[in-house]
Formats: sequence, structure tokens, C-alpha cells
Amino acid sequence: MITVRVPATSANMGPGFDSIGIALNLYNTFYMEENDSIEIFATHGEHVPSDESNLIYQCAKRVYDICGKPMPGLKLIEDCDIPQTRGLGSSSACTVAGLIGANALLGNPLHQENIIDLAAAIEGHPDNSTPAILGGFCTSLLEYGKVWSVRVPIADKLDFVAFIPNFELSTEKARQAIPRTIPHKDAVFNLSRAALLTGSLVTGDLHNLMVAAGDCLHQPYRFGLIPDGEEVVKSAKGLGALGAFLSGAGPTIIAMVDKEDKTYYSRACMYFAERFPNWKPVLLSCDEVGALVTPTEEGALDKLDL
Ligand code: HSE
Repeated sequence: MITVRVPATSANMGPGFDSIGIALNLYNTFYMEENDSIEIFATHGEHVPSDESNLIYQCAKRVYDICGKPMPGLKLIEDCDIPQTRGLGSSSACTVAGLIGANALLGNPLHQENIIDLAAAIEGHPDNSTPAILGGFCTSLLEYGKVWSVRVPIADKLDFVAFIPNFELSTEKARQAIPRTIPHKDAVFNLSRAALLTGSLVTGDLHNLMVAAGDCLHQPYRFGLIPDGEEVVKSAKGLGALGAFLSGAGPTIIAMVDKEDKTYYSRACMYFAERFPNWKPVLLSCDEVGALVTPTEEGALDKLDL
């Protein structure tokens, strides 16, 4: 049996719609092995599809099909800490796990770049799946059926505080809220910020983040679907964050915080408990490892809440 661990991701990061994303140290862990039939379980009494409609199974089957191998059954145990439908890349983590897990079970016939291309094709955009695979901060785009990306080394100066609400927002619905065309000035607004954000994260010029995290391509249209969303961004900044943005399609909001600001998280917890009790602050940092496959340790399954 193999263990596949995939990090949460935050896509867009303000101006980088469908392009920029970062891996965060919150994980889904999957235990997989070939089996005669399909057996799928989840920990903590979570309900997950337990038949061929399961996304991880479907992605695993895709790899077997591409490699010309008949798909046997699959034993799969899902132990998920990434909240679903909250803009933290939980579906991307499942897609990546299915692809990488199946590839490992087959002896790794596909290269990492094939997996990156496949994951983005399945997801429709590469901004979650690329950092979920590579870890770190990635800029990517999907063109000519392949992903063109860079894993950009960023200064180790930031914490990320995710404000996770107790309600969901489907990516499909959030994408429908975006207009089909935008004014030229809005395109310039975002592309200049996407470049400034990337450069500033590399050099550690954190003072730029206040403007560099701005966006006018998706957030203004999506806030209408997120009760208190704009107020949460304002409060996150008011508490001292360097910048704050909608994580992926939302509804989670992420604040970029100077690591030197040791009390931001406790200030945020106190303020939010009083003012926005439906939003839970979670302190995170950048995951540098990405998706990881290891042999399952003996006794590992006994420790799970199945
Ligand atoms: N870039 C995507 C969006 C991320 O904002 O719709 C969602 O997974």
C-alpha cells in the first residue's frame, strides 16, 4: 500500500487569476492499493463517493488507461484535512492524488510534467494543481495542451492566515459570476499587480503587497456570493495583514502576514470570535514539498479514525 499526501493550495492570490498559486501546510492523505474490487472509505465518518464516480478513482483510472493497463479495483482510504468547497484546492488535491498514486502503483511510467499537464487539463486551470504537485509558489498557464510553469522561490518572510467560513461556494457558481469581457484598464490593473506580487514575494519587498494583492477580474464579482466577504478582507488588513485576497474561487479569505508579527493570529482569533464567529482563522505557512508518495508505514491505518 502507498500513502499519498497532497497539500492545500490557494489560487489567484489576488491578481493572478487562473495562473498564480501557492501550496499550504494543510493536507489530504490517501492510502491506496490495487484491489479486486472498489473499496473506498473516509476517516471521521466523512461521506465520500464509494464507487466509480469517486474523483480519485477516476483520475487513477485515467492514468491506467493512458498507460494501456487494465484498471483493477482500488482500495482507497481518504483522510482529509482540507475543507471541501472552500477555495483551498481540495478537489485539486484529490485529482493530483489519483494521478500520482496510480502512477506510483504502476512503477512511475509518467513523468512529473505529464502529471502536471493531466491535472491541469482535468481541473481546467493549472493554478491549484501545479503547486499541489510541486509545492511552493508557482506561476503557470495552460496552452497547446500543456502547462508552462515556474516554481518561483519566494522569501521566507510570510505567514498565511486563512479565514475559513462555515459555508461553501462551488467553483462552478463562482466562475459563472465573472463577466465574459473586461475593460482594457482592468486587464492592466491585474497584470501589473500579478508581476509586482511575484517580484515582491521573491525579493521580500513586503511593503508592495498592500497594492500588489489587488484584483478587479474576479473578486468584485464574487463578493456578492460571499456574505461578509469584503468586510472580512477589510478586517484582515485592519488587523495588520500586508494584503488579503479571496483564496481561489472563495469563500475562504487569506491574509498575508509578516512572520515578525507574532501576535497577528491571536489578535485575529479574538476579533473574529467576537465580530465574525462564522469565520475560523487558521494559521498556515507555505508548503515546500508538494505531493508526496511513500510506502505506507506499518500500523499507520490502525491510527486512523475509520
Ligand atoms: N482560478 C480558479 C478560479 C481557482 O478562481 O476560479 C478555482 O479553483
